Amino acid sequence: MFMSIQQEKIGKLVARREKALLGGGEKRIQAQHEKGKLTARERLSLLLDEGSFEEYDMFVRHRCTNFGMEKDHTDGDGVVTGCGTVDGRLVYVFAQDFTVSGGSLSKTMSEKICKIMDLAVRNGAPVIGLNDSGGARIQEGIDALAGYGEIFERNILASGVVPQISGIFGPSAGGAVYSPALTDFTLMVENTSYMFLTGPAVVKSVTGEDVTQEQLGGASVHASKSGVAHFAARDEQEGIATIKKLLSFIPQNNLETAPERPTNDPYNRVDDALNEIIPDSPNKAYDVYSVIRSIVDDGDFFEIHKDFAKNIIVGFAHMGGRSVGIVANQPKVLAGVLDINASRKAARFVRFCDAFNIPLVTLVDVPGFLCGTQQEYGAIITNGAKLLYAYGEATVPKVTVTLRKSYGGAHIVMSCKQLRGDINYAWPSSEIAVMGADGAVKVLYAKEMKSDPEHSEEIFQKRKEEYVELFSNPYQAAEKGYIDDVIEPRNTRFRIIRALCQLEGKRQELPAKKHDNLPL
Ligand code: HXC
Repeated sequence: MFMSIQQEKIGKLVARREKALLGGGEKRIQAQHEKGKLTARERLSLLLDEGSFEEYDMFVRHRCTNFGMEKDHTDGDGVVTGCGTVDGRLVYVFAQDFTVSGGSLSKTMSEKICKIMDLAVRNGAPVIGLNDSGGARIQEGIDALAGYGEIFERNILASGVVPQISGIFGPSAGGAVYSPALTDFTLMVENTSYMFLTGPAVVKSVTGEDVTQEQLGGASVHASKSGVAHFAARDEQEGIATIKKLLSFIPQNNLETAPERPTNDPYNRVDDALNEIIPDSPNKAYDVYSVIRSIVDDGDFFEIHKDFAKNIIVGFAHMGGRSVGIVANQPKVLAGVLDINASRKAARFVRFCDAFNIPLVTLVDVPGFLCGTQQEYGAIITNGAKLLYAYGEATVPKVTVTLRKSYGGAHIVMSCKQLRGDINYAWPSSEIAVMGADGAVKVLYAKEMKSDPEHSEEIFQKRKEEYVELFSNPYQAAEKGYIDDVIEPRNTRFRIIRALCQLEGKRQELPAKKHDNLPL
């Protein structure tokens, strides 16, 4: 059959595309599937709206000539890059292709990734990186390392400009872990992904420690112990669905607000159950999740860092259709105390919300900071200061509701009025004081009780009653204007939404500076 020259050229293009779509080839794709993993392209097709993917640099090839690499070329090299939409909103994506040299990073791969990062910043859209890589391409030596450097620099420059999300869908080892660490959110997949600086073999030779990949840097480890991962998904499908849901709460860039989500949940819905939720005994716990679910639209709360530092809860929700960041002490875990990890977790979340114009709703029930040598040696001072700093620096609307305890330094840290809290409410069950009644009485009346040991218990009880009367309520703070209003718990949703509406046009600036010096 006769074929024009143009038809022949188009045929070659189609054939080359078809070959490129197979990455490292059928055998390696099969091997990838046998490991319970999807390919880079399969992941992208799950993530992006159907037909929306616009691929770039499909024909890019590495330029390495060491170790016979000049004979080993695959179109596109080890990463698939481009843009597309998720629920109709533009995103830039890169997905490392493990079927090509184990997804190891060549200089040209880094150029592909940097190109889409530059486009994302220029056009104001999130960057989503799906990582599955053996790290720096060994054959390329310093060129591969330089490639990482280029990516890291872009991660830094894009930080606070466009949201950056990392999905870890396979290995992520060595210095390569630092690109995900520089992004806003990291998601890992249980059993098939791991992140560590050095693998088990090196660990064994250096420290003598026997440890598996999973124990050293698996999803559950990073989601619960180190906090490196914000999410641990059961499988890749759940991982991609989580990334999509996360996107629905956040804006495209730092100059926009998050998309609104219409709801049939009335903004003035009251919940009588909240009037009963605080136990009569101050030492009894309740579940702050019930309060969160009660006040947000449709009870839909999207939690971040669910398994890490469970004494504080952070996550996104909608209230009156608008996206909000929720921070809540959890009385059910360690009585809701602030420790190193809780402070780090919440500080990072508060800073993300502030960078991307997401109002903060803070629910306070905190007995103070955790004490002891472990916390002091681990720098609870510096870490607690991170949260203090984050709240004090944030200029987004800040609405705070004190549910019960709000003691000492922790009271100040948790978005108090003096840290430019905009609207601060308290429930009638609030206790806003320097410390709880028992501790305070023991300090103030130690001498009196010691001098009359026979009646020390009576003295203690009498003084405690006085203290409770004076401080174990919200009225001292409300009388001084530190609390704007004492509200009935059942009205909390309505009052927060009304406050957020009021604050919609909030304008607040920070003094001019090169950058801050956050206590790191
Ligand atoms: C070149 C690599 C590679 C790498 C894997 N491959 N890693 N090629 N450079 N870094 C190749 C393999 O040779 C193999 O090629 C193919 O990818 C698949 O790898 P396998 O080993 O067969 O797969 P698997 O058994 O699943 O093991 C995956 C792995 C292992 C655990 C990632 O490949 C591995 O340990 N790779 C080296 C990891 C590493 O040390 N990287 C450097 C980290 S330091 P063929 O052709 O045989 O299929 C680093 C510095 C970054 O990254 C610094 C930034 C500042």
